[in-house]
Order: sequence, then structure tokens, then C-alpha cells
Amino acid sequence: RFGDYSTIVVFGASGDLAKKKTFPALFGLFREGELPSTIRIIGYARSKLSDEDFKSRISANLKGVTNENKHKVQEFLNLCSYHQGAYDQPEGFKDLETEIKKYEDKHSITKPDRLFYLALPPSVFTAVAKNLKEHVYTKEGRVRLVVEKPFGHDLASSRELQKDLAPLFSENELYRIDHYLGKEMVKNLVVLRFANEVMGACWNKNYVRSVQISFKEAFGTEGRGGYFDDVGIIRDVMQNHLLQVLTLLAMERPVSFDPEAIRDEKVKVLKAIGDIETDDILLGQYGKSEDGTKPGYLDDETVKSDSKCVTYAAIGLQIHNERWEGVPFVMRAGKALNESKVEIRIQFKPASKGMFNSVERNELVMRIQPDEAIYLKINSKIPGISDQTSVTDLDMTYSKRYSKQFWIPEAYESLIRDCFLGNHSNFVRDDELDISWKLFTPLLEHIESKTGPVPESYPYGSKGPKQLRSFLNKHGYVFED
Ligand code: BG6
Repeated sequence: RFGDYSTIVVFGASGDLAKKKTFPALFGLFREGELPSTIRIIGYARSKLSDEDFKSRISANLKGVTNENKHKVQEFLNLCSYHQGAYDQPEGFKDLETEIKKYEDKHSITKPDRLFYLALPPSVFTAVAKNLKEHVYTKEGRVRLVVEKPFGHDLASSRELQKDLAPLFSENELYRIDHYLGKEMVKNLVVLRFANEVMGACWNKNYVRSVQISFKEAFGTEGRGGYFDDVGIIRDVMQNHLLQVLTLLAMERPVSFDPEAIRDEKVKVLKAIGDIETDDILLGQYGKSEDGTKPGYLDDETVKSDSKCVTYAAIGLQIHNERWEGVPFVMRAGKALNESKVEIRIQFKPASKGMFNSVERNELVMRIQPDEAIYLKINSKIPGISDQTSVTDLDMTYSKRYSKQFWIPEAYESLIRDCFLGNHSNFVRDDELDISWKLFTPLLEHIESKTGPVPESYPYGSKGPKQLRSFLNKHGYVFED
């Protein structure tokens, strides 16, 4: 449990991530009574900011404020303060230690609880971790270090980062956030799979024809081009978010809810994924929208004019184990598409012919966002005198099923709460990270080499590259419009 007199320090407190995600999540937890009202939250960054400026920055992004709970905003801000300091010099950290110690002493805390959240680029992870270890670490109590992707740029840089962090903070103290693991539907996957015998029975190569994990965003990289150009969609969302979803979908049944039991199974399935073949990729980059109103990727001034950066990718994977041999898993992700949606589609094998010549395949859809839903497409007789069949849905759309009173935490809220509770289940372990880079690095090197493939252009606002339909058909998925 998170102690009543704990301290949270958010590094990079004046940056975008802290402003848009970390502080709103901390507020969300406070609003819902999940954060003790006696703790301290310190924002640490290099910018010169007064406490007031800092608070007005964070208050602008707090969510879920209503007439009834608006007093909570001020109560939350009262817990927060700002601390200016460098990331690579000891002074700021020594002062931080003094400040935290004063607070802990005032409340006679002998076993301090300190959570350090690095909302920072990885270039400064190690410097901050070193200074924390030297000046703000406590052996008596509990320390947690939360880090966020990108955890490296490829296998070598990820290992380098691991090598630097490992002697400073133990795996048990480290929490690597992949915010997709905090999403409600993603957390539901283990329950859906393992608490329902009916699902478990058909969750294998005998019944499943193909699995799709699809991520679509209706906006481009506007304003983020400079960052995105070195990253591309594969590093941005596939090597992490979508691969994490895939492992939860494909892993074997963990022996318990113990975090290590779950992560052990995830690692096993990652190890069973075959090399990604160049035939199994489809790459795209968005151009202007068909009506010319939305800019193409290369129109962004912060992007190299001849950039081959991939803004759309579909990748077919094979899992070589008893359960999945021969079942294609396709991950696809794209920016500047026709809609924003993230979903999993499991398409089952067709019913045997004979009685029915043309019934559709069953398909189980798990919509991660927006509007979480699980629905199963089944064939059913058209009611009445007709003897025809039609496809209909067994539908569990959350907004219809559960009352609005239900608080579904945002991904960051859920993960920060897990972190308070010391639950590592939904955080990425070092070996998972290593294997995921091992899988993607050869592909990235191929794509980014001088002779690498040129991504197909697709219009902003479209469904993606033209070849998508044939790519999916090749991977066993019957595409519907
Ligand atoms: C981030 C990526 O990790 O995830 C972004 O860097 C992407 O490019 C975002 O937009 C998607 O997250 P969500 O929660 O909005 O689906």
C-alpha cells in the first residue's frame, strides 16, 4: 500500500507528458479517493517557474472536474509544489533530499515511500537515476522508479540503457510503463480468455483463422514531425503497445495472477515468434488528403524532405508453438487514417459446408478504444418465416452495459495506482523488452537502410495503403468494408 506520507517526484514536470498525462492521472486518482490527501507531489524540472505558474500549468489539463468535485482541484494543487533543478548536477537532488526529509521527519516517517516518475526523454534517464541513487535514495523504506518509452531506439541502445540502469535500481524497483497495459479492455483480456471456458476452448489454431490487432489514428504527426521522423510508426506503437496486446492474446494460461507468472508467460510467447519476413510487411506514408485540405507527412517543415519515414505499417507474424502454428497474427498501425480506433479481431475458420454454402465466419471483436466493447459476430436465422441466415452481433458495449457511474480509470491512472500498490503485472519486464527489440531491430535496419523499401503513399484520411486488402487476404483475413 502507498503510505499516507509518501512523496511522488515527477521529473520533467514542465514538459508535455507530465502536463497532459502524469498530473491529470495523479489528479484523477486523488479525485477518486485513491491517493492519500496527506502525500506530497513535487514537480522537478529545469525551467525557472514559480509554484503559482507551475500550478496554473497543471490545473489547465485536469479532467473529470464537475460542480460537485471542483473543490478537489484546489485540494490537489495544495499537495503539489515545484522544485527547479538540473538533471545532470547533484545540487538540485541534494536540495530535493533535504525537502523530502524535512517532510518525512515532520511526520516521524521511519520507512519512507518515495516514487520517482521520469516524464523525461531517455537521454537523461541515466543521469537522473544516478543522482537519485546517490542523493535521494532510501534504503530504509521503499523506492519506485517509473520510466516511460522510448526504452532505446534498437536492441543495442536498449541494452545500453538497461546496463546503465540495472546497477542503480533493481528490477523490483523499476516500473516500465507501456500505457496500453493500463487500458481497461487490455486488462480484461486475461479474464476474458481464462475465466471463460468457452473462449479457452476455441482459442487456438484448430478454430482461429487469423488474428488482427489494429491501431488507427485520424490525425497525422502535425507538430511532432521532428520527433516522429527518427521513430516511425513501428517504434512508436508496434514494438511496444501492439506487441504487448499480442502477447496477452497469445500467451498460455499463467499459473496465477502473480506478476512474475504473467510476465513469464508473456516472455515465452515472445520467444516463439518467428523472424519477420520482408514479404510480410506493408509500409505506407501519408500524403495530402484527397481534397487537399490536410497536409501530407512531407509537408511538415520539421521533417526531412526526402524522408522515407513509415507512418503506416502492417506486419504479419507467426507464433511457432503448439497452440498457434500456422495462424497469422497481423499488427497494423497508421497515422492520418479515416478514423481513430484500436481493436482486436479474431476471425474463426468458416463453418463446414454442406448445410450452409455461404455463411460468414465468426469473428470476435474487442474494441480497446473508443467506447470499449466486446462483440461476437454470429450467424442467425432471420426471424419469422424466412429460412435465410444473417450475421448479427452478441454485443457487450461497455457504455450500454455499465452505468456511467462506473469509474473506468484512464490508462495512466490505472498504472500509477498499480505502482502505488507495488503490482508489476502491467509493467514491462527487462527480458520482455529485450526480446521485443530483438524481434524488430532486423526489420527496422532493413527498412531504414539506403536500399530499404519505399513506403506506399496513401491519402490523409483514407483507410491506408491500397494493398491492404490483398495483404490481409494473404494473411487469412476476410476484409469487410
Ligand atoms: C504513444 C505514441 O505512445 O501512444 C503516440 O507515441 C500515439 O504517437 C499514442 O498517438 C496512442 O495512445 P492512445 O492512448 O491515445 O491510443
